[in-house]
Amino acid sequence: MKWVAIDEPVPTGEAFIKKVKAGGKSICLVGYEGEVYALGSSCPHAGFDLSKGWCKEGKLICPIHRFGYDLHTGKGNPGQNDYIEHYPIKVKDNVLYVGMEYFWDKLKQAFR
Ligand code: FES
Repeated sequence: MKWVAIDEPVPTGEAFIKKVKAGGKSICLVGYEGEVYALGSSCPHAGFDLSKGWCKEGKLICPIHRFGYDLHTGKGNPGQNDYIEHYPIKVKDNVLYVGMEYFWDKLKQAFR
């Protein structure tokens, strides 16, 4: 896993949803109930931008058809049979980092 710095101020507990770039990917950065989450920004249902959605009961809600995704796991609501990527987050030296696993890194690990 590679830790990629995000060019954003470290959140201070406020609620927010914004789309940021990290490691060549679009990430939906979410502040919810004092925690920060990093999730894929594209809705798997029809590709809408999840950073335009909102949070409710621990889920990120897509504004188009209101599919919901768990902030901790990225899993879709029961019956949706889908998920979005979720990424670990850490703060070091007042910089926010997102942990990214790349396909080639996963492949290399599989053959070690
Ligand atoms: S595009 Fe997100 S729920 Fe349909």
